Amino acid sequence: MKVLFATSEAHPLAKTGGLADVSGALPAALQEIGVDARVLMPAYPSALEKAQNLSRVFRIRLPEHGEASLLRGMFPGNGVPVYLIEHKSYFEREGLYQDETGRDWPDNAMRFGLLSQFAAWLAGPKSPLDFRPDVLHCNDWQIGLAPAYLHFEGAKPTPTVFTVHNLAYQGIFPPEDLKKLGLPPESFSIDGMEYYGKLSFLKAGLYYANHLTTVSPTYAGEIQTEAFGMGMQGLLATRGKDLTGILNGIDMREWNPAADPHLAAPYSADNLAGKALNKRALQDELGLQPDAKAPLLGMVSRLTQQKGSDVVIEAMPQLLKLGAQFAVLGSGEAKLENAWRDLAAAHPGRIALKIGYNEGLGHRIEAGADIFLMPSRFEPCGLNQMYSQRYGTPPVVHKVGGLADTVSHASLASLASGMATGFVLDRLDAASLVDAVNRAMVLYRHKHAWQKLMRNGMTRDFGWTKSAHQYLGVYKKICRA
Ligand code: ADP
Ligand code: GLC
Repeated sequence: MKVLFATSEAHPLAKTGGLADVSGALPAALQEIGVDARVLMPAYPSALEKAQNLSRVFRIRLPEHGEASLLRGMFPGNGVPVYLIEHKSYFEREGLYQDETGRDWPDNAMRFGLLSQFAAWLAGPKSPLDFRPDVLHCNDWQIGLAPAYLHFEGAKPTPTVFTVHNLAYQGIFPPEDLKKLGLPPESFSIDGMEYYGKLSFLKAGLYYANHLTTVSPTYAGEIQTEAFGMGMQGLLATRGKDLTGILNGIDMREWNPAADPHLAAPYSADNLAGKALNKRALQDELGLQPDAKAPLLGMVSRLTQQKGSDVVIEAMPQLLKLGAQFAVLGSGEAKLENAWRDLAAAHPGRIALKIGYNEGLGHRIEAGADIFLMPSRFEPCGLNQMYSQRYGTPPVVHKVGGLADTVSHASLASLASGMATGFVLDRLDAASLVDAVNRAMVLYRHKHAWQKLMRNGMTRDFGWTKSAHQYLGVYKKICRA
């Protein structure tokens, strides 16, 4: 089985969120079960810097896009082959999707149109490469046009899988862009990529791909309902029989507290001693009071409506009364960033905030915190709640999407049976959050019970193998069809 895995970001070449973690790890997991999986993505400056053994495959001039070229190289670490699309004016800039003020780049339709076009071309019969994929695996709206390009190319197109990592990002553009992107007028229809008078890259993927997947079984069900479907629930329900929820895994080597170069001290389920050293180091790094007993609550996330940090802000007066400290790392919407800045300024030593993106600090918060907060309004899968379990930092989560599928609530029964790994809110509001954090803190004060909870999460297998086999099953199915 040969698969071209097309994505707009992949760790460690370029990352804004979980899509990069998945794109960096799943192709390697597929390789391990015998799939020849190769990644296609843009040659951002960071990708050019970090990819290894780069060489140019060809150069081409396209009427709509000008000059582009294709480079070939590999991922550092796991050696997965990667193709990078080099295009001076599209990809040689900082900021994957937005400028530094948070505004989407005005030429995103053309940038990701080119990426989609390359994906379709390199997966199809006219590809100049000697690598002939059996399947094109497209991820999120940025690759949404690829199944459409293949569809309109006619004659037995290469089968496509389209994976939804987040339905909230839809790639909506003015209809005039259709022509610039070289797509036929008939594609602009309700049975196609038209969405309320606009062009939607996401809808193109959802409509034209042979099979759809999303990143957790619960989210696969949720997105067929009005509450979570973001306007796509009708189409998704129609395609329900072609839609599979496959849970994300985590890179168990990259996220391993026993061998994590970012940490102050290693630790493991068998030897928890180093965890306290990481807590103290984090308190020092962030200017928190060096109090070993104060429960330290960690958050690492994009600061958007999705992640529910506004509910944490609302609950903050009560949470502080419980004696908690906070270590918060994130960036995103200005309103949320400012609300967090105000809180941190009002409570020095108790609330530490870092606005920005910092991979190492993300690891240190997972390791140094006692409890991880992730009360998302919706969460397709979520990776941080898995990282935190692996790092012995039980998460408090809202029962949605992948959070519901990966965290086992600490009830009396689940604690007794050794299944419990965290705390799950049935509903998301400040009172429920305070209640859950309070319960977590009560258990935290019972050292033995708490260490049991930590170990339950730390010894769970969140690896990719099972999910890689499920993807292979989907690939085989669409190749047969
Ligand atoms: P999403 O993809 O919706 O942002 P996930 O939980 O799937 O959520 O993945 C988020 C990834 O991005 C994790 O690897 C997380 O550690 C990382 N991350 C998010 N924000 C930051 C940040 N400000 N600094 C460092 N890492 C971050
Ligand atoms: C998206 C989702 C997140 C998921 C990630 C990787 O960014 O918001 O829940 O874990 O994609 O699939």
